[in-house]
Amino acid sequence: MVMTNFADYTEVEEKARTTMAPDIWSYVSHGAGDEFTQSNNVAAFRKLSLLPRMLRATDQRDLSVELCGIVLPTPLFLAPVGVIGLCDPQGHGEIATAQAAARTGVPMMASTMAVDPLETVASHFGDTPGMFQLYTPTDRDLAQSLVHRAETAGFRALVVTLDCWQTGWRPRDPSLTNSPRLRSECLANYLTDPVFQKLLPASPDNDASVAMDTWNSIFGNRLTWDDMAWLRSLTDLPLILKGICHPDDVRRAKDVGVDAVYCSNHGGRQANGGLAAIDALPGVVAAADGMPVLFDSGVRTGADIVKALALGATAVGIGRPYIYGLALAGADGIVNVLDALLRETDLMMALDGYPSIAELTPEAFLPTGG
Ligand code: FNR
Repeated sequence: MVMTNFADYTEVEEKARTTMAPDIWSYVSHGAGDEFTQSNNVAAFRKLSLLPRMLRATDQRDLSVELCGIVLPTPLFLAPVGVIGLCDPQGHGEIATAQAAARTGVPMMASTMAVDPLETVASHFGDTPGMFQLYTPTDRDLAQSLVHRAETAGFRALVVTLDCWQTGWRPRDPSLTNSPRLRSECLANYLTDPVFQKLLPASPDNDASVAMDTWNSIFGNRLTWDDMAWLRSLTDLPLILKGICHPDDVRRAKDVGVDAVYCSNHGGRQANGGLAAIDALPGVVAAADGMPVLFDSGVRTGADIVKALALGATAVGIGRPYIYGLALAGADGIVNVLDALLRETDLMMALDGYPSIAELTPEAFLPTGG
């Protein structure tokens, strides 16, 4: 296994490319359309410049945050990745990610799509809280069952992804059509679910394609605002809506009783041609008006984390950087990536004179006109 020092995202990405199976690499690295949004997510951070403040440095920085009643030692979290199981050299990436979460205190958002069932994943969290990300199936009983299992397994929040009821147009990624394993090997949460099992038609030889067909028939639920009361009724856990970028959607989400919104464009994998997520963040934060805002898409460095926090994110998620860390060195690789990102975040806050996250506000940026 190639251990890596996470000094440079591009270098880690390139190293991972040489070790990952080509279909998995293709699925992870590509985005929607000509990848305008995916590139924009990263480029937009480069257009934001922080201004240092002097004579305010302290020995220690306080990186802790509170998210829906959950106190976290740092503002980072591991965004949900449906194929994370397959990105691990040992083929159990959810478990490796959960172990990295236990070692670092950085929480994992576990995707519905998984190689290992959510109960097994949660058993590796240690004292670090976990969040469950639901792809809401069209079958309401199955949705209820998955949420109930997540509650019983000890997950501390439910994250519902809204921007992926159908896969985006990804012409640069042939694996979507050529590599059925990317889906069929990530169905553990469905195959272990009593409601899903009842949906399976009798198949004498346990044909995997039968499970795949059944999954295909229930996966994509085009939720609307009319479904929100039902969704809210599923759980008393904090409910977080992922994929919210428009201020009006934030206000409606607040009205239907969600606990937090998650500003993200799925790392540019779903709808192409859109605003960089970091450029959508200020509008989301303003509309949230005190409600927590999670953020991801395009975060590659500690500097990016500091910028997202300064624009009002309560917590900042990373996707591809930790996938590549995992691919290179399993749980150690993820710990390595998180360690490097957090060290840079802490050092930037120190050198720029922001001893706590509370002090990081939009005033940390170069004032316009001034
Ligand atoms: C994702 N993402 C994702 N999101 C989600 O809600 N459920 C999921 O199962 C997945 N699966 C998934 C697979 C892969 C390979 C990637 C790269 C991403 C989106 C993810 O949670 C996050 O929004 C983006 O990865 C953030 O962008 P960056 O950090 O990858 O640029």
